[in-house]
Amino acid sequence: MQSKTLIVLLMVTMAVATESPVLQQLRNKLAQNDNYNSQLVELLELSLAGGQLDKVFELLQKMVDDLTGQINAANLDHASRMAAFESSIEQLEANLASLSSEVQSNNRKIGDITQAISTLTSTSVAVKKQLETINQREEQIRDNRQREVQALETKQSAGAKILAALEDIHDRLVKAVLSNTGSFLEESEKQEMIKQVKKELGRTHPLALLLEFSSKFDEATAKRAIELIEQIIASIKEGQVNRESNQTAVEENFNSLVNEVTVVRDKLQQDNQKTTSALKNKQNDLKITQRRNKQLQQNEANTQQLLETTRVQKDLYDSNFRSNASKREGQLNSLKTALQILRDNEQALKK
Ligand SMILES: *[C@@H]1O[C@H](CO)[C@@H](O)[C@H](O)[C@H]1NC(C)=O
Ligand SMILES: *[C@@H]1O[C@H](CO)[C@@H](O)[C@H](O)[C@H]1NC(C)=O
Repeated sequence: MQSKTLIVLLMVTMAVATESPVLQQLRNKLAQNDNYNSQLVELLELSLAGGQLDKVFELLQKMVDDLTGQINAANLDHASRMAAFESSIEQLEANLASLSSEVQSNNRKIGDITQAISTLTSTSVAVKKQLETINQREEQIRDNRQREVQALETKQSAGAKILAALEDIHDRLVKAVLSNTGSFLEESEKQEMIKQVKKELGRTHPLALLLEFSSKFDEATAKRAIELIEQIIASIKEGQVNRESNQTAVEENFNSLVNEVTVVRDKLQQDNQKTTSALKNKQNDLKITQRRNKQLQQNEANTQQLLETTRVQKDLYDSNFRSNASKREGQLNSLKTALQILRDNEQALKK
């Protein structure tokens, strides 16, 4: 009850409260154990005792109007607060749905990235293996070449040694043929020559056999030996030249093999670089997406929590409102009942 109303009621109050059937009726209808009603009955008793019935009607009517106004205002406020709750809840539900669909699409994205990483990883392993193979291949080509060069050097230097020995024998024979008139080469010199030829050309070489088995090492034999030596020298020289010129072709072949290997290796190295950098990017993507998803899931949980809290708040507010509303309805009914009783007994009270 408003204090202004209370003061006015008190102003019309007289000191003595008299028992009357009307007041008895009011007490029966209203008093009970309701605080508001017992205050109302008390005030009406005091006011009626003062005898200003018209004023009492007027005030009661004003109280009814005030309370009705309050009820209407509270209903409007309730409607707008409930609408605000509904709208918050709808907004939170929409946020939750969009967060959850974003989490799902991020999960799919994480799956795709993981798949791509696995593919790239096996590609990377394969490319690295190919690189290793091509490097081994190049090493093998270079080793082979090295061995060829060494074999050639060995052959050429052996050839050169034989040539030098044969040229020496040749010169001695020529000198002997030119200068000799009677006895020919000393037996010891002949034996030394045979030994040298056997050593350089082998013990069954025709030249060795010719020198060894000639019964007489005369001028004719020497001339045949010189001829034979000249043929052998020419053939060894030809062999040396052939080997040298063959090396040009071998060298070209080697270079083209090395070039092929280099081209393949360059391409593999590019592939390797591309794969490695793609892998790095994907791993980075994965980290970012996982971090983002963690954040989204956190937001989702927070939104869910807020939604539940808002629903609870809404229910609590609504039930508080209903309890307040039912109190106000009760007060309004009490006022109306009091007014009705007073009207019904207006004549009696005026006496
Ligand atoms: C020339 O080189 C080829 C290939 O390396 C080889 O098969 C051939 O015997 C060589 N010829 C000579 C005369 O060395
Ligand atoms: C209900 O009434 C109490 C006491 O007057 C007030 O504090 C509260 O805000 C009211 N609640 C609603 C929902 O009207």
